Amino acid sequence: MHDSPAAPERDLTWTESRIPRQQRWLAMGQRGLVVWLTGFSGSGKSTLAVALDKALTESGRRCLILDGDNLRQGLCEDLGFGAADRVENIRRAAQAARLLAEAGVIAICALISPFAAQRELARASCQRAGIGFLEVFVNVPLEVCEQRDPRGLYAKARAGLIAEFTGISSPYEPPQAADVELRTHELSLAHCVEQLRQRVCLESALPMPA
Ligand code: ADX
Repeated sequence: MHDSPAAPERDLTWTESRIPRQQRWLAMGQRGLVVWLTGFSGSGKSTLAVALDKALTESGRRCLILDGDNLRQGLCEDLGFGAADRVENIRRAAQAARLLAEAGVIAICALISPFAAQRELARASCQRAGIGFLEVFVNVPLEVCEQRDPRGLYAKARAGLIAEFTGISSPYEPPQAADVELRTHELSLAHCVEQLRQRVCLESALPMPA
């Protein structure tokens, strides 16, 4: 799907596949979809993503996790945590997720993605391409995440050993109208995963809407 308004000025063309999306998604037995988990470090995004991936796969769905920590060890290994690099990090993750969804995969993205504008760009890019996008706010207060501090990162950030740490020295803009909000500190993981699994199964089910 063409997505770059500046393409003609840059002497670029778009090569269209001869396989219509409908045919591709029918062959996959599902509609591609982007599930975007956002929240503080330590809020449980990765735990949720891993459990959701397992639950969906056991339900016959095809998924792939795009985890911020993992992407930063590959596709995004050149990026840091300054605002511009985070913007680029989200852009790359969103583009990768959209490509996966185009192929008929459910892309489960787990990134802090602290900026509302970047999450909206990710959603808009999917919407323009006719691909479903579910924003999931993993809503755990900073105090709880900091108390959990599974890898000691908050302690390091407080001690000034990590710069621009989200929630401590770098902002987080919570979603105003997330499609799903999960307060994982108040609910069991099983409950959260089942709620998400049902929603994702619904949104990725064939037949495609007219
Ligand atoms: S994002 O802000 O660009 O969306 P992303 O989800 O990719 O972040 O990466 C966050 C992960 O990087 C955290 O879970 C943590 O393990 C690690 N990390 C290292 N330094 C920082 C930092 N300054 N701020 C936030 N996370 C950091």
